[in-house]
Amino acid sequence: MALNPLAVASSIIVVGGFVLIGAILWPIFLRDIIIITNGLGRTVQPISDFPYQCRRISGPDLQACEDMWLSERTRQLFLACSDSASRKHWMPNIARFNVSGRSLNDKIIALDIDKPVDTGFEYRVLETPGFPGVNGDGRLHLVGMTGVDGKDEIDLYVVNAKPSVNSTTGEFLNQKDHKEVGGNSTIEQFRVNIEAEEVQFVQTFADPHISTPNNIAPTGKGSFYFTNDHGPNKAGTWHALSPIMKNGDVSYCNEGGCRKVDGGHGFPNGLSFGKDGLLYVPSSWAGDLKVYRTLPDGGVKQVDTIYIPYALDNLSLDGNGDLWVPGLPNIGATLRAFDNPLGPTPPATVFRIHKKDDGTYQVDKVLEDSEGKVLPGATAVVHDVKTGRIFLSGVFSPFISVCEPMDSPSQEKAGSESTGRDEL
Ligand SMILES: *[C@@H]1O[C@H](CO)[C@@H](O)[C@H](O)[C@H]1NC(C)=O
Ligand SMILES: *[C@@H]1O[C@H](CO)[C@@H](O)[C@H](O)[C@H]1NC(C)=O
Ligand SMILES: *[C@@H]1O[C@H](CO)[C@@H](O)[C@H](O)[C@H]1NC(C)=O
Ligand SMILES: *[C@@H]1O[C@H](CO)[C@@H](O)[C@H](O)[C@H]1NC(C)=O
Repeated sequence: MALNPLAVASSIIVVGGFVLIGAILWPIFLRDIIIITNGLGRTVQPISDFPYQCRRISGPDLQACEDMWLSERTRQLFLACSDSASRKHWMPNIARFNVSGRSLNDKIIALDIDKPVDTGFEYRVLETPGFPGVNGDGRLHLVGMTGVDGKDEIDLYVVNAKPSVNSTTGEFLNQKDHKEVGGNSTIEQFRVNIEAEEVQFVQTFADPHISTPNNIAPTGKGSFYFTNDHGPNKAGTWHALSPIMKNGDVSYCNEGGCRKVDGGHGFPNGLSFGKDGLLYVPSSWAGDLKVYRTLPDGGVKQVDTIYIPYALDNLSLDGNGDLWVPGLPNIGATLRAFDNPLGPTPPATVFRIHKKDDGTYQVDKVLEDSEGKVLPGATAVVHDVKTGRIFLSGVFSPFISVCEPMDSPSQEKAGSESTGRDEL
């Protein structure tokens, strides 16, 4: 195949997990590019088609919340938030390396979903004493987040996309050097008491295999799986080409260290365990979810594929065992919004994946907002089965949204999306 990586890279623009090829298209990638990322030939519906009442919740703390996790046990929604205006400057996962433009104010928020107030819900910004950050600055640079509900505490695992430093001087590398070596992402573990008032920093996971971490699926036994959305390529041409070369991976860490357990992924995103114990890995590039059985040695074996013809983002599991995933129906609009977060809101879609008794999957489109009226350009969605509420947040969005079902929570119904299914 005659392709000049540099020429290709220069025409690729990457945003929030999605890649656009501008000038150069070649047949082998046409399906991915046109069908999945640009969504030609798909009906994008207005929010009024869906039986939900949605509203935005704004506030200085509730912006650029890339990811969320619901503690079912304590009824607290944890959010990994940042600064909308800064995401375009600093986001190593998509090769934004302007260190001086990074957010200095990332925070973990605990929102009480049973305590609505006028403006939204009661929430607390969690202090993280004892967390060293870089050179003792104590700062987090939040991307993905997942928790584990314990009996007396909650463990939170976050992807911390921090800048790299010069090992001699300890100073941050400049933008030019970052473009060569990339950021220095680690996975941080915090332990929070049940009221989410006391936060204890537990440990940093730093490992050569934690290269472009996107999100984490803890096993609950101290080990975890995670996705490297660009595989080992932290920066440069191979980083830009990674989604089409499909060198993203699923990796695994335990006390013994970390290792890659499955390769060949095109921008693998926010993975999650299902209630069936299987591991679900969505792709922001290929429009599918790969389903894995985990093996006793930490390895994985693929057992199924679920096709959803949208670029997919972070998965979350609800109390009924259904998986929820946001899709981005219009990449062009998302791209523009990423660089102009206070401008027009891009359209958003929410899918629910239900595993039927016969083992096949049913995928329903639960929400869609073709005009970007109330939903954020969503990168994470969380469903509370008790109230039927759906919470949505977005990596660069200046607000989060909550949608209340108009009828009873158990009767959500919406347009179905036809899906294929692969038996492997
Ligand atoms: C980097 O960020 C700073 C601070 O926001 C901004 O002034 C500067 O223009 C940015 N540089 C580039 C190259 O985008
Ligand atoms: C899902 O979260 C990860 C961090 O987990 C973030 O890098 C990714 O962009 C999110 N999904 C998307 C696309 O935004
Ligand atoms: C990356 O982070 C690790 C863990 O915090 C640290 O030990 C290491 O010095 C950092 N490396 C660079 C190049 O910043
Ligand atoms: C680190 O700083 C030293 C001293 O300024 C410099 O000589 C070296 O080139 C720097 N290394 C990197 C990787 O930037």
